[in-house]
Amino acid sequence: MVLNKGGHEGFVRRGLGRLGAGYQTLDASRPWIVYWCLNALDLMGAPLGEDLEAGVISFLSHCQDPNGGFAGGPGQLAHLAPTYAAVCALSIVGSPEAYEVIDRPALRSWLLSLKAECGAFCMHHDGEVDTRASYCAVHVASVTGILDDELRRGVGEFVASCQGFDGGIGALPGSEPHGGYTYCGLAAMLLVGSTHLLRMEPLLFWVASRQMRVEGGFQGRTNKLVDGCYSFWQGAVPPMAAWALSHGADSVYEVGTMYAPPQSIAPGEVVEARFVRGGSHLFSQEALQDYILVAAQQPRGGLRDKPERYADYYHTCYNLAGLSVAQHNSDGSLTIVGSPFNLLQPVDPVYAISQNKAIQAVRYFADLGPVM
Ligand code: FPP
Ligand code: ZN
Repeated sequence: MVLNKGGHEGFVRRGLGRLGAGYQTLDASRPWIVYWCLNALDLMGAPLGEDLEAGVISFLSHCQDPNGGFAGGPGQLAHLAPTYAAVCALSIVGSPEAYEVIDRPALRSWLLSLKAECGAFCMHHDGEVDTRASYCAVHVASVTGILDDELRRGVGEFVASCQGFDGGIGALPGSEPHGGYTYCGLAAMLLVGSTHLLRMEPLLFWVASRQMRVEGGFQGRTNKLVDGCYSFWQGAVPPMAAWALSHGADSVYEVGTMYAPPQSIAPGEVVEARFVRGGSHLFSQEALQDYILVAAQQPRGGLRDKPERYADYYHTCYNLAGLSVAQHNSDGSLTIVGSPFNLLQPVDPVYAISQNKAIQAVRYFADLGPVM
């Protein structure tokens, strides 16, 4: 079984150019499209190229609001979701010019202006509060080195209040647990060092039970259908939970510590020496890879939700990120289904970009020191 890297690369490169009319509904999500396509390229080890990097820097700088945060397009309202996508995309470009786009003092004051009394965040001014907002806010603050006690206050308590009776995490207290929100909730907990507020055993039982026994991929919630994007939203949860359990209850996630070294694939490395069967993540990493390779790949390039659907950039990004999670074990060994050329760069499950790009960005901003 072969991952059609060439086909997927062609597919996402087209997403970074002129889009078809079908994408007009994503006009308020343009930084997302940039992130999905860049993340796919980066995880496949494809160089972005100078022109693309310059284009991304220029476009995203036009999406930044002078009062902090990024909007879904130039002149639109600053919103946590495109802010998260823009910070991820600029971190993937990974140059000082890209990092310097982000106005950190403005970002910090905008994030504080979105903070509710209980510690949760609104997605935008007058917008909804949910666990997505908590994750997006603490993620961008963590990457850019501005995550202080004021921003952290109450995040853990809010996320813990969204854990359901069955262990999964929902958008709000009492709402149905879902893979997207479980991912956001747990990643936010690692970033603020509050995983001890979650009931970890039921959470792990919930997520392991979302892997479909026939298809091998994950469903997003109980009694729903398999979908390739949950390869990441659900698949990243067990390694994050394992990190929390092995590092102690209130440890704050430290970038670069998810996988034991060697942390990246050196050009020409004989990777087969690191192959093991099974894996370390408390779900079937081989069955998940089967689903992605057999069912989620569109033969002409791009990845999809499930076979009767067309590929899109969102599903291409998250199938590949989930495939990377399933390939990389926490001890640095590899569990690869099919061709050794299917191997992807290790994704950082918490930051949702490659581990190398996450380390580089976090270190760059840490060196700049705090902002007031
Ligand atoms: C249900 O859709 C899905 C949702 C209500 C939201 C899912 C949330 C995420 C994917 C996380 C977003 C993360 C960030 C960082 C912003 P559905 O009913 O179409 O799908 P389903 O049948 O699979 O549940
Ligand atoms: Zn999906």
